Amino acid sequence: MKTFFNVQDIGDLKKALEEAKQVKENRFAWKKLGENKTIMLVFFNNSLRTRLSSQKAAQNLGMNTIVLNIGQESWKLETELGVVMDGDKSEHLREAIPVMASYCDIIGVRSFAGLTDREFDYAETILNQFIKYSGKPVISLESATVHPCQAFADLITIEEYKKTARPKVVLTWAPHPKSLPQAVPNSFAEWMNAADVDFVITHPHGYELDPKFAGNARIEYDQMKALEGADFVYAKNWSCPGVTNPEDYGKILSKDMGWTVDAAHMAVTNNAYFMHCLPVRRNMIVSDDVIDAPTSLVIPEAANREISAQVVMKRILEDLE
Ligand code: CP
Repeated sequence: MKTFFNVQDIGDLKKALEEAKQVKENRFAWKKLGENKTIMLVFFNNSLRTRLSSQKAAQNLGMNTIVLNIGQESWKLETELGVVMDGDKSEHLREAIPVMASYCDIIGVRSFAGLTDREFDYAETILNQFIKYSGKPVISLESATVHPCQAFADLITIEEYKKTARPKVVLTWAPHPKSLPQAVPNSFAEWMNAADVDFVITHPHGYELDPKFAGNARIEYDQMKALEGADFVYAKNWSCPGVTNPEDYGKILSKDMGWTVDAAHMAVTNNAYFMHCLPVRRNMIVSDDVIDAPTSLVIPEAANREISAQVVMKRILEDLE
């Protein structure tokens, strides 16, 4: 594996899930694989789970880890080519990436969407510069349009908790006070479309995900109707993807608190499990009683971030040998 970005990068999902199970059963079995190898984790944005789970996964595999917070511990980096660098950015990615790559064997990058320029974000301009100029395997730790480590952990969690062979999984938009990227719902949709589940997406009008990720998923604008009989409810906020109206890209089109997942929403499901990638705004995205219920999977889901990261790093290390 040279990059981890799309669901296709992991190959056969059944094999990947089997491998995740093996890793979870004995996460230290491949301790020799990463000996004398170094992974660099580059963060342009904040993180709790991704930062910790990636470091833990790398340590399980015997790797050294270097974590760099861009702009806080490093120089501020310019990301656009062809600009006159007379502002506060002291160094360009064009030099910084090959320098960082010279100190490591694998690079993980977190760089959120700016949400002002759809073309720049959806071209994955920053991640692609890492792929182009590092010459090293690159893992998206949530880039402008995708969060594959999260989606893989979500799929592992669904596999562990499902009670039927082909569960109904509903991705529901929920309100949030800030404008958020589409990376998590994009990847979740992409991975659910590839998995053996009955997948439905529900959101207010204007929040349609890019067809590249939504694929052939069923879209239901009536949230209650979408949730009927669901086995898993995956809540997430995202800003306008700008599919129907590019001028609205990154905007908040709705703060309708009627979309907050509460007991009334869960009551129409098939005693569904509740999922969210975290961090979550309580009583905006989900009511306290739903997230605190025994059917909430938010903690095991976060714990599985270590497993998804480890499978990805293990495969990359095996290919480096
Ligand atoms: N879910 C997730 O990626 O969490 P962090 O932003 O804390 O890494």
